[in-house]
Amino acid sequence: MKILMVSSEAEPFAKAGGLGDAVSALSRALSRAGHEVRVVLPRYYCIDRSKLEAVDGPLGVKMGGPSGCEEWAGVYKSYLPGSTVEVYFVDHERYFGRDGIYGSKAEPDFPDNPERFAFLCRASFGLCRRLGWIPDILHAHDWPGSLAPVFLRHEEANSEFAKTASVLTIHNLGYQGVYPKEAFAAFRLPWELFHGAGFEFFDKVNLLKAGLLSADILTTVSPSYAREIQTPASGFGLDGLLRHRSSDLVGILNGVDLDEWDPETDLRIPARYSPSKMAGKDKCKAALQKELGLPVDSTKPLVGMVGRLTEQKGVGELFGPLYGSAYRVCADMALQFAVLGSGEKWCEDELRALSGRLPNFKAIIGFDERLAHLVEAGSDFFLMPSRYEPCGLNQMYSLRYGTLPIVHRTGGLSDTVENYNQDTGAGTGFTFDQLTPRAVYDTVGWAVWAWYNRKEHVAAMRARAMAKRFSWEHSAAEYAKLYQCAIERGC
Ligand code: ADP
Ligand code: GLC
Repeated sequence: MKILMVSSEAEPFAKAGGLGDAVSALSRALSRAGHEVRVVLPRYYCIDRSKLEAVDGPLGVKMGGPSGCEEWAGVYKSYLPGSTVEVYFVDHERYFGRDGIYGSKAEPDFPDNPERFAFLCRASFGLCRRLGWIPDILHAHDWPGSLAPVFLRHEEANSEFAKTASVLTIHNLGYQGVYPKEAFAAFRLPWELFHGAGFEFFDKVNLLKAGLLSADILTTVSPSYAREIQTPASGFGLDGLLRHRSSDLVGILNGVDLDEWDPETDLRIPARYSPSKMAGKDKCKAALQKELGLPVDSTKPLVGMVGRLTEQKGVGELFGPLYGSAYRVCADMALQFAVLGSGEKWCEDELRALSGRLPNFKAIIGFDERLAHLVEAGSDFFLMPSRYEPCGLNQMYSLRYGTLPIVHRTGGLSDTVENYNQDTGAGTGFTFDQLTPRAVYDTVGWAVWAWYNRKEHVAAMRARAMAKRFSWEHSAAEYAKLYQCAIERGC
């Protein structure tokens, strides 16, 4: 099949979180399975143009809004490393010639985001025409890609794209692309579609909602999350719509990209290791402790955490200045705690303050791929107390690196981590059911207890965790089945 991915992120070119990992890894796996996959991305400022191949001639893209005319896009090309997947970059100074994917420190969400990503989506069609390459499947990701299925249904139904079927994947329902309704004008769609295509959401524009109503098939990134988002508690106001489209909604678990995340081959960590040769993991732990300025001590368990510092990740329950449990965890327990992350300012400030107050707590504020690998490899436990988690990649990386996850049993976390049974020693991690500061405290305490008192259980859980296979091959095969079904339906 010919598959076009429309996304705002694809690592190594642009990544703010798991979306970038997932889009690239899925594309590579589909390509390995024999499909022809292409990816369209914005040419963000941080992507060095001189390393890309220029594609002939600018591309005209009709836009509405104040300019109300054709905007011109430069097109560049490259490949996903280690694959034949072609990546096309849409270049436009006003939309993408600035630092940041979705926003900057000063402006966390660029106000012209609807226009920027509408431009990306509409340019995707022009690009395919230019290349003489019409996809069987248009696979859009999250709210930034959501206008692609809308344009396909409402503008391209009788064009050369008439037979193209669309799939929209929800990586995170908490981000829907909701903007003042004035933004709608930039899409150059008739105002009837403000209601008709479902853009309207409490008198604002909701890009994801319009995409969910337009795409032929909807997916999300774990079976549990597919169920959860159809309930009012986790539906962010779209649960009714998702229940309505329930028969078209499928949950497919993400995988682990072993080219990037495998302790046996990972060159970003100081020593490699495998279930039968674990000495390298001790070296990684010592290197992590040294780098962060924690005492180099193999006798104490090290709890690691990597991620976006947002409410979704449970940082309120953990680091909330008045009620979070991190301070007591570090003050009461014989452990070390290492955090790598960036995000909400209050949380970054709190992490800095805790680093200053507690000798066994260190935080690195920032986004650092190498250090993320070192935290995964050098920690004994990996904490993910997410309020909700569509899939979560970090806990799967942790399992692979023999770093036992401590997680809230929600979404993809509950599909991937098996709770410890202290009678039998079974399990691959430690889970809790309700996210409260107390539950986080108790469950970290439980893991620390097992570390000191059930060493043989911890070793066996580690081996079990490392043997888990969350393969992208398997997920890609599931997607391929869905694509086939979308094509056959003749949607
Ligand atoms: P989400 O997509 O919700 O952020 P995931 O667990 O699916 O959560 O994926 C997060 C990805 O982003 C992982 O690859 C993780 O290592 C990476 N990541 C998040 N924060 C950082 C950071 N501060 N530095 C380096 N990598 C990070
Ligand atoms: C989102 C989700 C995360 C998921 C990732 C990749 O960012 O928050 O749970 O793993 O997308 O699908």
